[in-house]
Amino acid sequence: MTGTPLSSDTGAMLRLAAQRLAAGELVAFPTETVYGLGGDAENPAAIASIYAAKGRPANHPVIVHVAPEADITYWAESVPPQARALMQAFWPGPLTLILPRARHIPAAVSGGQSSVGLRCPSHPIAQALLREFALLKPNGQGGVAAPSANKFGQVSPTHASHVRAEFPELSDAELMILEGGPAQVGIESTIVDLSRLDSGIGPVLLRPGHVTSAQIAAVLGVEPGRPDVAAPQVSGSLKAHYAPHTPLSLLPLEELLLTVFGDVTHVSSSAGRVAAVVFNEPPCPASGNVDWHVCASDPDVYARDLYALLRHLDQQGYSRILLEQPPRTPAWQAVNDRIGRAAAAFISS
Ligand code: TXA
Ligand code: MG
Repeated sequence: MTGTPLSSDTGAMLRLAAQRLAAGELVAFPTETVYGLGGDAENPAAIASIYAAKGRPANHPVIVHVAPEADITYWAESVPPQARALMQAFWPGPLTLILPRARHIPAAVSGGQSSVGLRCPSHPIAQALLREFALLKPNGQGGVAAPSANKFGQVSPTHASHVRAEFPELSDAELMILEGGPAQVGIESTIVDLSRLDSGIGPVLLRPGHVTSAQIAAVLGVEPGRPDVAAPQVSGSLKAHYAPHTPLSLLPLEELLLTVFGDVTHVSSSAGRVAAVVFNEPPCPASGNVDWHVCASDPDVYARDLYALLRHLDQQGYSRILLEQPPRTPAWQAVNDRIGRAAAAFISS
């Protein structure tokens, strides 16, 4: 994905986008994971407008995106060797590191927490934007704070058109959206907390993603732990998140088939059309009010296509979406995390 020269039109567009960021405005941009809603990480007013646009609570931290050449010590109070090793292995790429925040970086970017989340994306448009933006800063250090460019709790955008659809209230003049094609990873970055090593608390996996626990363990020599009550807050770790509007259930295949075939009258008479997403061609394709969608059996391909599929199904007027439960293996950890939280949004507690 790196190394492709950008056209002069794209260059001019990126310079304009960087100027808009420097003026405190928001710019949505592509990354390899999902599209981000960016603002100047050192401008608390820009961060406040990100929160306002997303409808997100102000105590939720946002990730600061930096160019590959960025000086991480400008953003982090300390950079432990574990962080250096992970950056060396996975940056640029879909890994966010939580480190102690440098004192001069506004607390607004981390929702008042003493940490900062840092990520260097690999998407060429994201990198070029970050470079242009850093050039506009007197000290050459510029960071773009960006959550996923969706309304709070909703499905993250993997195409520029998804971003446009998420913010109908913002005109093109108010929100510039950079086109960067479909996101290749498709789900949000892996987040590893390294902010509490000084207190004797080892690396913690706050959010699973494309970079797996096993890959992190191979670099650090230790599996990242599970979040404890004092771990930094991650909004993506809320039990219910990443949800479409249509009620979604996650079911083992037998239960899904029972729901569809065992209760056809119920499905067809009272519930409207149902979308069933399964790994293999269904035994009986034409069945009542059910539309079958066969999904990828490779977890990376599934992840890449997941959010676009959920958005597509959301627009078809289905009364329910039924997803076949993927294998509960490490390779599927990130996908299971996202679809589990999406389904949890529809379980009344
Ligand atoms: O792949 C991604 O990470 C995408 C793209 C745009 O980079 N961004 C993304 O942002 O998913 P968002 O805000 O939707 O999720 C970022 C997560 C949130 O759950 C937030 O709580 C956590 O990162 N986070 C950010 N800074 C943090 C910090 N200082 N401490 C703890 N968690 C932090
Ligand atoms: Mg998000």
